[in-house]
Amino acid sequence: MSPAASAPFPDPEEATVSAPTTARSVDLAAFPPGFSWGTATSAYQIEGAVTADGRGPSIWDTFSRVPGAIDNGDHGDTACDHYHRWPEDLALMRRLGTDSYRFSLAWPRILPAGDGPVNAPGLDFYDRLTDALLDAGITPSVTLYHWDLPQALQDRGGWTVRETAEHFAAYAALAADRLGDRVTRWATLNEPLCSAWIGHLEGRMAPGLTDLTAAVRASYHLLLGHGLAVQALRAAVPGAEIGLVTNHSTVTPASERPEDLAAAARADGHTNRWWLDPVYGRGFPADMREVYGVDLPERPGDATTIAAPLDWHGVNYYFPVTVADDPTGPAPHAREIRLPDVPRTGMDWQIDADGLESVLLRLTEDYGARRLYVTENGSAFEDRPGPDGAVHDPERTAYLEDHLAACARAVRKGVPLAGYYAWSLLDNFEWAYGYAKRFGLVHVDYATQRRTLKSSGLRYAELIRAHRDGTA
Ligand code: IFM
Repeated sequence: MSPAASAPFPDPEEATVSAPTTARSVDLAAFPPGFSWGTATSAYQIEGAVTADGRGPSIWDTFSRVPGAIDNGDHGDTACDHYHRWPEDLALMRRLGTDSYRFSLAWPRILPAGDGPVNAPGLDFYDRLTDALLDAGITPSVTLYHWDLPQALQDRGGWTVRETAEHFAAYAALAADRLGDRVTRWATLNEPLCSAWIGHLEGRMAPGLTDLTAAVRASYHLLLGHGLAVQALRAAVPGAEIGLVTNHSTVTPASERPEDLAAAARADGHTNRWWLDPVYGRGFPADMREVYGVDLPERPGDATTIAAPLDWHGVNYYFPVTVADDPTGPAPHAREIRLPDVPRTGMDWQIDADGLESVLLRLTEDYGARRLYVTENGSAFEDRPGPDGAVHDPERTAYLEDHLAACARAVRKGVPLAGYYAWSLLDNFEWAYGYAKRFGLVHVDYATQRRTLKSSGLRYAELIRAHRDGTA
């Protein structure tokens, strides 16, 4: 049965929760027929079961054991126990009425040591999930890498060495071989910026390094791995639709001072251009090579590999940034300025839906992207079930509506937006913040693993249905 045919509305037990009545308007008619409405998750953030059925350790299993690395000493050992509870989570997708689900494969579940012997039960898990999604009329959108590098590869240098890019392509081929007869929508990497800059330069994510040379080398090998994986996917899956998922922010200078303008250009290079220019055939930006002052491990042919044509580009957008010059700070020598009196989420991230419109327009107009998805967008707020068990989250609902409205404006201006994936289906393990930050459309009580659809989820279901029915 297709999800459209099933009722995406609450079961009687939760019928007391209703979509907000003060809904902001979203120009749903802007979205083309066939627009994908989805939710997104990632393996380490939801699966748990970290030692089940032969899974090997990842860098996040290791990093989450470093004292002080994760708030409250949290880790992903159990997370949302999605590995065992996925049928319930699939039922939630059907209640939302989404027609696509973006999830990632855990490389260490499939290849526990990163290369070498294949762990058949790991592949079987994703095989079952894929079949069940398709049976429910939900298109799988598979991301190969959402930060959970097998620890064994980290022990051999991780993304700072070229071999990891090559192992990534071999893993992509393996996954495609098993799932490619049913999965057509593939992404190679999720947010390589976070892997490289936050994981190797800022040290706030696995593997927890603070080393500019390692970070720049990692950024290079991540993009090389992306290009090699595109080749592997094209060879294995006829008709594959292949994309890359990158995260972006608009960057505004704190003042008109020349130093701040230059800092904003560097921050833009660090956040946006470094990740887009090489993929769109422009090579790594010369100004940023100079800022980093680190030789790239380039070999002939790499630039072409990295710039392999894509079928789509995934944009993850959460917040804008404002920066000032910071000559003595770490690269890119730009300090983020916290603006007073602006709306913020529970992550302390500034809320600015116009930024999403700008990012989509830039990808379209400056880079010539031919098909875009918003592959992640969402907000964390402190949600607590009320006495009736319902979870009312008006701030998240407003964030969702405002960002969908921004998407609609972008589409009206010519952006080829093909879908929107809300981050996230479930509250989950928010990396260094542990379980304290909740991004889900569905509340998870971690003590009982009870799931409760929030009122933002009901509003999303309502919008999806209105678009599908043409009643927008
Ligand atoms: O939870 C993360 C996700 O893993 C990657 N993009 C940003 C989300 C919110 O921080």
